[in-house]
Amino acid sequence: MGLSRLHHLYMTLVREHAKSPHHFGQLEGQEAVQLNNPTCGDVISLSLEIKEKKIEDIAFCGHGCAISIASASMMTDILLGKTTDEALALATLFSDMVSGQKNDRQKDLGDAALMAGVAQFPQRIKCATLAWHALKKAIEQEEKS
Ligand code: FES
Repeated sequence: MGLSRLHHLYMTLVREHAKSPHHFGQLEGQEAVQLNNPTCGDVISLSLEIKEKKIEDIAFCGHGCAISIASASMMTDILLGKTTDEALALATLFSDMVSGQKNDRQKDLGDAALMAGVAQFPQRIKCATLAWHALKKAIEQEEKS
C-alpha cells in the first residue's frame, strides 16, 4: 500500500474511532484506573473485568485529543478476550511501534497498527500510549489484589 493511501486510511480510522469510540463508558462494579497525560492534562479512565487472567470485558472514558481517544478505542477492540500476558505483550509491541521500531508482529495490533505513523510526531507518542499505560497499571493492580 502506498504511503499516501496508508496515511489516508490512518486519518480516516482515527477520525472514526475518535468520533464514535468503541467500548466507551465504565464497567459496573469494576474500579477504573485513571491516568493523565502530564503534558496536556488529558485523562483516560480504563476499567477491566478480568477472570482467570482473561480480559472478559473492557471499557474506557475520559477526555483527550483525537489520537488518544482513537488509540484507546482501537486498544479496547484488540484486547477483548485476550489474556493479561497477551495484553501486556501487545502493550510492549505498541510502545515499540510508536517509538519507531519495526516488528513483523505489528499486524497483531489490528487497527492500532496504523498508529505506527505517530513515530514521526514525537509529541504525540504520549497521546497514543496513554490508554496502553493505563492498561499496564490496571493489570498490575489486578495482579496485586
Ligand atoms: Fe492530550 Fe493528546 S493532546 S492526550
